[in-house]
Amino acid sequence: MSDLKNIHEEYRTKLKEKLSLDQINQIKSDLFGKNGLISSQFKTLGSLDENKRKQFASELNKIKDELQNTISEKFKELELKKINEKLENEKVDITLPERPIERGKIHPVSQTIDEISSIFSEIGFSVEEGPDVENQYNNFTALNTPDYHPARDMHDTFYLDEQKEILLRTHTSPVQIRTMLKDKPPFKIIAPGRTYRSDSDQTHAPMFHQVEGLHIDKDINMGHLKGCLNYFIKEFFEIDKIKMRFRPSHFPFTEPSAEVDIGYEIKDGKIVIGEGDQWLEILGCGMVHPNVLRNVKVDPDKFQGYAFGIGIDRLAMLKYGINDLRAFFECDYRWLNHFGFDPLDVPTNYRGLSR
Ligand code: PHE
Repeated sequence: MSDLKNIHEEYRTKLKEKLSLDQINQIKSDLFGKNGLISSQFKTLGSLDENKRKQFASELNKIKDELQNTISEKFKELELKKINEKLENEKVDITLPERPIERGKIHPVSQTIDEISSIFSEIGFSVEEGPDVENQYNNFTALNTPDYHPARDMHDTFYLDEQKEILLRTHTSPVQIRTMLKDKPPFKIIAPGRTYRSDSDQTHAPMFHQVEGLHIDKDINMGHLKGCLNYFIKEFFEIDKIKMRFRPSHFPFTEPSAEVDIGYEIKDGKIVIGEGDQWLEILGCGMVHPNVLRNVKVDPDKFQGYAFGIGIDRLAMLKYGINDLRAFFECDYRWLNHFGFDPLDVPTNYRGLSR
């Protein structure tokens, strides 16, 4: 009996201390293990006479319950402590600086297409689109370009089949055909997009960009063409005066045809547009050939007009001082970071497409 009291006292005191999980487990096994101090007390019951046994048993059970309860309390305390510690460690520190955000840039070609579209939309042109993969009819035949024309040569054109029926469009002019076939005149559209020719050097890439223009109505003449292009160039380069010249040229789908050069000079290593005695070719144009109109069921005696095709990449190079065309399409992020446009910091001259 006194043995039991001693055990009780000793362990009650022990359990009041601050204990680790291992220490509590140790106490548990000391007391209640197979040969534990309490477990062995139960074994003595058999040797006691009935009266004593009852009293001792009830005493023993009380102490056993009390110690067991204290032990499980201790376990719970430790568990709670562990959870709290974990919560403490996983706390989100909202004062930490944020991770850097990589913001994409708008490619100079996309930026230039947006600018061109907004300039033309202000004088009534709407924007049309056509596919990069075309048939030879829309790309050549309908545009009055006969079979023997050099533009059809394997050298220039990427054909996609043996029969030379399907190809990558060599210019945006097939969008003229598509537009006129699906609607009735008048037409006043521009069509920016990708074009392809087997050609590559510092100023030519096998894939490049053009914007087509087409204006067909009653009584449209070459003066309108000149006025329209003059307005466009001035708006695009943001200058009041522009030196511009029309050079006679030839395209199968326009008659007469012209190429347009703009004047420039190099001042302090920088190109200045609109002045000087140097000339730079930027577009081809002309009055739409009557055969083209006939091919799309437009009566050339009632309707006529002009068309033009501008090289977008070259305009972008000029406006934004980029001197190698190939860099446009190399997908080098460092280049894009330098020459690209921040989508949230749009240049002041940008009017946006919706205006
Ligand atoms: N399609 C011609 C080219 O790619 C340009 C052009 C378009 C010329 C429209 C006249 C009229 O060179």
